[in-house]
Amino acid sequence: MVGTDLQTAISFLQQGQLVAIPTETVYGLAANAFNPDAVAQIFAVKNRPSFNPLIIHTNSLTRLKDWGLQLPQKMLLLAEHFSPGPLTYVIPKSHLIPDIVTAGTPAVAVRIPNHPLTLELLSKLDFPLAAPSANPSGYVSPTTAQHVNQQLGNTLPYILDGGACEVGVESTIISFLNDTPTLLRYGGITLEQLEKVIGKIIDKPGEAGDEILTDNPVAPGQLARHYATKHVLIHGDPKKNFDQFNPQKTAIISFKTNYTQVPQNLQFVLSPQGNLTEAAQKLFAAMRMVDELDVDVILAEKFPDEGLGKAINDRLKRASVK
Ligand code: TXA
Ligand code: MG
Repeated sequence: MVGTDLQTAISFLQQGQLVAIPTETVYGLAANAFNPDAVAQIFAVKNRPSFNPLIIHTNSLTRLKDWGLQLPQKMLLLAEHFSPGPLTYVIPKSHLIPDIVTAGTPAVAVRIPNHPLTLELLSKLDFPLAAPSANPSGYVSPTTAQHVNQQLGNTLPYILDGGACEVGVESTIISFLNDTPTLLRYGGITLEQLEKVIGKIIDKPGEAGDEILTDNPVAPGQLARHYATKHVLIHGDPKKNFDQFNPQKTAIISFKTNYTQVPQNLQFVLSPQGNLTEAAQKLFAAMRMVDELDVDVILAEKFPDEGLGKAINDRLKRASVK
C-alpha cells in the first residue's frame, strides 16, 4: 500500500517488516537495522547479494554516538555542512550493528537523509534504518513512490509517499577507514564541495555500488553493470551512433540538446537550460520512461565531467556495460 501515514510506517518497522521510505536522493527499502531477520528480508526482496553491505540511516549524529560509533574529526566537519544531506560516511562499526548490515565487514556506512517526513520518522524510532535503494538489485533506482510500487508493491506492506526525490541520484559515499578520506561513490554532493571543507580526498569511485565485483567482504567493490535499463544503452555522443540504428526505434537521453534525427517523443532532454541539478533530478525517471518505449536502443549523452555531471555519467556508464 502507498500512503503518507507515519504511524503506519512506524508500526510495520517496529514489527520487523519492510517499509519503503522517501529520501532526498532516491527511495529506500528500509528495515530495523538492529533486527537481523528484518534486514535479511531486504536482501531477499531486492535479490541482493549478501556480501553487499547496507547504509544505516538516522536523524542525528548524537544517536550514532549513543550506538557506540566513533565519529572521525573530518566526518564531523563535513556533517556540519552536509548532514542532513546526500552524503554517506563509512566508519568503523560498533558491536550493536549486526554483521548482516555490514556484510561481515568491520565498517558501517551511515547517513542522515534530508527529507522532512523521513527525518520525523527516524526521530520517532529507537533504532536506525538499514536501507538500500528500493529497486530490484541491478535496476534503476526509484525516485517516486510509484516507481517503488510498480516493482516491489506486491512484496511490501507499506510505501511511505514523500513525493518526487529532489536530488535524484544516490548519496556520495566517503570512507574514513584510511588516513586520507576516500571517495567511494559519486553522488549528490560533489568532490569539489567536500574538498573545500576537509582538503585532499582520494578519488576512487567504483569502490561502492549496488552490486559487488568481488566476494572479498573486506573490500566491497562493485559489478560494473548496475542502474541497467532493459533496453541496450550506449553512453557517448549520439551523433556517432545514429547510422547504426533505425531512427524510428532510437531513444535519446540528452543534457540540453534536441536531436532532429529521431522523433521528438523518443527524446528526453533533461535540462534545456543546461542545469546539472535539474538533470540529476530527472535522470532515473527518464531511464524508466525510455524503458517503456518500443525502441531498439537508448543513446545517452556524456554529460559535462564536473559537479553532479560525474554522478550522472557514472550511473549512465554502469547502465551501459553489457
Ligand atoms: O542515497 C543513498 O545512498 C540511498 C538512499 C536510500 O539513502 N541508498 C543507497 O543504498 O544508494 P545502496 O545500497 O543502493 O547503495 C549503497 C552503497 C552500496 O554500493 C554498498 O556497497 C556501499 O554503499 N556500502 C554500504 N556499506 C558499506 C561499507 N561498510 N563499506 C563500503 N561500502 C559500503
Ligand atoms: Mg542501489
